[in-house]
Amino acid sequence: MDQRLLLMHQVMLADRPRLHAYDQALASVVREGDVVVDVGAGTLVLSMLALRHGAAHVYAIEADPAMAAVAEQIIRQNDLGDRLTLVQGEARIAKLPQAADVVVSEMMGNLGPEEQMVEVLGAVARRNLREGGTVIPRRLVTHLAAIEFDDEGWGLWRDGPPGLPGYRLDAVQHVVEPHAQLHFFQREPRFLAPPAVLSDDGIGPGSVSSPEREVRLRVRESGCLQAVIGYFAAELADGVTLSNYPSYPGCNWAVWVWPLRHKEVRAGDEIVVGVTVPRGRGRARDAMEWRLDCRITGPGR
Ligand SMILES: C[S@@+](CC[C@H](N)C(=O)[O-])C[C@H]1O[C@@H](n2cnc3c(N)ncnc32)[C@H](O)[C@@H]1O
Repeated sequence: MDQRLLLMHQVMLADRPRLHAYDQALASVVREGDVVVDVGAGTLVLSMLALRHGAAHVYAIEADPAMAAVAEQIIRQNDLGDRLTLVQGEARIAKLPQAADVVVSEMMGNLGPEEQMVEVLGAVARRNLREGGTVIPRRLVTHLAAIEFDDEGWGLWRDGPPGLPGYRLDAVQHVVEPHAQLHFFQREPRFLAPPAVLSDDGIGPGSVSSPEREVRLRVRESGCLQAVIGYFAAELADGVTLSNYPSYPGCNWAVWVWPLRHKEVRAGDEIVVGVTVPRGRGRARDAMEWRLDCRITGPGR
């Protein structure tokens, strides 16, 4: 088995706020005797939570053959064969033997849409969710924000590291390409403009997603534009939301940071940001491949 995959599942299971949020959402949605579909089931943790909250049966769909083989063993070891059925394959085309009351999934990428959760859950719901059934999460929003960073991240390539006054590193800015870095924020950066919405998708039988678009960030505070960040907020159920910004201890999702050549901006400027999603099989999953282009407009520019 790919050891990076194993580590990914380990880090996800260790993310306590993530599991707590899903536990709360499933507790509020699942009714005694419900049929639940766990899409992208991995180590079956969401299936287990659904059973604990009263589901009569869970269909756990997992595309990765190595992960599915491990999941089969977990089912056997926990003696759950009569309540938990593993379906190995692509969830978009799965047709289950029973209509489901609830579809649950955690396929949020660091930005939100990379793992195509909105499209996949839309397809699963159309084929398998009973009328009036519930999807968890029910909404996925991606935000972009313009920031002034400091020596915790890309802001370093100006004044240099702490303790070395006068050591200029601006030259490094000129080799930057319009691709994302992943970052866990230890400190809050300064937001130069209120965050704007890149995509806002309801999830259900009718859902499709198209995050590729242009966003305008209106500068409220003058400062040095150093990066644009992208992060998600997933609405799981009433009053239960999960987001990767601000970074929290144990958070398994990094925040995307597109570093820019540092540029002074003034209140009243507009930062026009275009995001291009890479085409081709599997390429959208790779954070590095999402391109961000940025221009600044405003009085006197
Ligand atoms: C982020 S992990 C979540 C695993 C588990 N549900 C959890 O919460 O710990 C996503 C899983 O979905 C699987 N997956 C991704 N796309 C899928 C698809 N279209 N159909 C079925 N499984 C998929 C991946 O192989 C991976 O195991």
